Formats: sequence, structure tokens, C-alpha cells
Amino acid sequence: MTNQRNTFIWTVEKDVDNLAESHHIQEAAERLIQNEVVAFPTETVYGLGGNAQSDKAIDRIFQAKGRPSDNPLIVHIAKRDDVKRYVEKTNELGEKLINAFWPGPLTLVFRHNGRLSTKVTAGLDTVGIRMPDHPVALAVIEASGLPIAAPSANTSGRPSPTTAVHVQEDLRGKIAGIVDGGATGVGLESTVVDCTGEEPMILRPGGITKEQLEAVVGKVAVDPSLAEEKEAPRSPGMKYTHYAPKAEMTLVDGSDRFFQEQIDEANRKGLNVGILVPVEKSETFSGMRRKEICGTESDISTVARELYGALRSFDSGEAVDVIFARTVGEAALGQAVMNRLRKAAGNRVLTENELQK
Ligand code: TXA
Ligand code: MG
Repeated sequence: MTNQRNTFIWTVEKDVDNLAESHHIQEAAERLIQNEVVAFPTETVYGLGGNAQSDKAIDRIFQAKGRPSDNPLIVHIAKRDDVKRYVEKTNELGEKLINAFWPGPLTLVFRHNGRLSTKVTAGLDTVGIRMPDHPVALAVIEASGLPIAAPSANTSGRPSPTTAVHVQEDLRGKIAGIVDGGATGVGLESTVVDCTGEEPMILRPGGITKEQLEAVVGKVAVDPSLAEEKEAPRSPGMKYTHYAPKAEMTLVDGSDRFFQEQIDEANRKGLNVGILVPVEKSETFSGMRRKEICGTESDISTVARELYGALRSFDSGEAVDVIFARTVGEAALGQAVMNRLRKAAGNRVLTENELQK
């Protein structure tokens, strides 16, 4: 194959005291300084990092992921105060959120001061910044001495990676290296909050919930286009399909009987069926070729953590034609889980009619 390159794998223990002195961390940082791109774990998902001040490094990120260049990247920093180096000014709202949630799965959008590559911001006058809550991510960023742009380390359109193996599946041979620090924690990306307006607005639900944000800053708005997705027609809009397994996925909102009917109907059409259900429903249904268990209904954080791995697993092993996934409640982290499920399903949702129940 042309353009194949050797991708180093550096395995590190995230809990050791002298992480900063690790040769592996130093080597990964060296590559970043050379404007190469390197994947590393964060508390949300693995990121594909590159020097946010280098056009060349940013080109490499977009190229490795096959990402459209009009989608801006998040800049990762190792110290809270570093935000001031790249933004025009922070405001009271931003300061409150930084103090409450950094390091953590919260990306804040501010007006930038022009010190980052324009390719990072896709030409916008704002930039999304976060300080990740993961010792390996912080050690790599700190050792590089650079602001690190890092989108999720997956091929554009596929589920984000929550293990180094997922990164290898997508990017091996295309990037300089992968720091393997084990499985990530939250399992879904950071919450993105726009701090440039009068009131904060959630642009992407994620690891920090709306309830958590509101406890600190009062009312938080949600980008109206997120709510509209709920009402979107069943026919798939391709632009909404992200995080998606290769087989067509449909969300099923209703009783167990209604879910079983979907499996039976697909079987009558001669389709091979896969299902994505929580452990409580692992023995409830029949007639499917494949079953992926994703977390427990009694703890939504386990569903978040296991979701991308479960979606990815449908792409290996026995192929199915269609996947039915159970919807989850939208409280707390459920909002981010449902956002990703809807995108993975291209907005196909079958809702049981009240009369059918
Ligand atoms: O948890 C995360 O945020 C992970 C880890 C690696 O940190 N990163 C991540 O990056 O999810 P990415 O590139 O896959 O998603 C970035 C999201 C996109 O939805 C992008 O449109 C939005 O953040 N974004 C970035 N900069 C923005 C800006 N200036 N204004 C509005 N949205 C922005
Ligand atoms: Mg992504």
C-alpha cells in the first residue's frame, strides 16, 4: 500500500507517579514537536493530537481521519491558565465553568486571539478549548509544551475510539504513533458549550450534563438544532449519520413486545438482525443473529462507557443487515447517549403508539 507508515505503539501505565519522566511520553511529545500526529487517551475518548499552531500538523490530522476541513478541532491544554494564551478574553461565565469542571469533559468555546492555526478553527473567529482529566493526556501535552488540537482518533464517520485497539483499527499506518493508556472512562466525548453569548449554550451534549452545568451557572440553553433531531423524519439524512456501524441501525422506543415485533418483521423480510440492548434485556428477545450487550439500565454511565465499543463490534464477526437498539431515558448522561444513538441510527426511530402498548 502507498503512504503506509510505521505507527509506534507506546504502552504506559496511567497510574504511575513518574509518568512525566516516562520515555514513552517523551517520545510521543517529540513527535508532536516535529508536527507529527499522535493518538492518546483522554477521560472521554482517544484523541488524535497535533500541534495546534502548525498548519502542517493540522493537515495531517484531517488527512488521517478523512475529516471535512470545515469542521473545527478542539484545542487541549495541560493547565487551566493556558486558556488565556489563545483566547481574546475569558468572561465570568467561562471562569465559573473552568473552575467547576476543568480538568474534565467540558469544551468551552471562546473568541480566539489569532495565535492558533486557522485550520484548527476552520476559519471561525471562535475556538473550542478543554483541559482533559487524564494523567496520560496531561503528561503528553505538558511534555510537548504545545497547545494540542485533538479530534477523536477515529476515521471520520465511525464510532469514536475508547481503546487503543479501536485507534489501530482506523489509523494504523496513517499516524506516527499511539500512546496506549488503557480504556477511556466516560466513553462519550466532552460537552461543548458556547460561552460567547449572553447565556451559555450546549452545542454538543457530552460527559458533563446540563444539570451539572446549571447547578453552577443557572439557566443553560441547548442548540435548537439538537432538539429538532428528535422530530426528524424516519428517512435518514446522511448528514446526521455519525458514529455509525456499517449495518443500518434503528432505535426502538417502546415495550419488549414492540421490540420483538421489529425483529420478527425483519426476519420475515429475510434480513439478518442484530440487537443492542442493556444487560437487563439480554435474555428477553429471540430470532436475532447477533446481540451486543451495552451497559446496565440502572446506571446510564455504563451505557455511555460501552456504547462505542458495542457499535464497533457489529463491524467485525458475523455481518448483520439491520440493527435494532433500545432507546434510553434522557436524564443526565442519557441526553448525550441518545444524541449519539440518534446519529448512529441516522435518526431512524420507531416509537410505539400509545394504543399499541
Ligand atoms: O471529548 C472530546 O471532546 C474529544 C477528546 C479527544 O477530547 N474530542 C472530540 O473532538 O470529540 P471532535 O473533533 O471529534 O469534535 C469536536 C466538536 C465538533 O462537533 C466541532 O464541530 C465542535 O467540537 N467545535 C470545535 N470547535 C468549535 C467552535 N469554535 N465552535 C463550535 N463548535 C466547535
Ligand atoms: Mg469526533
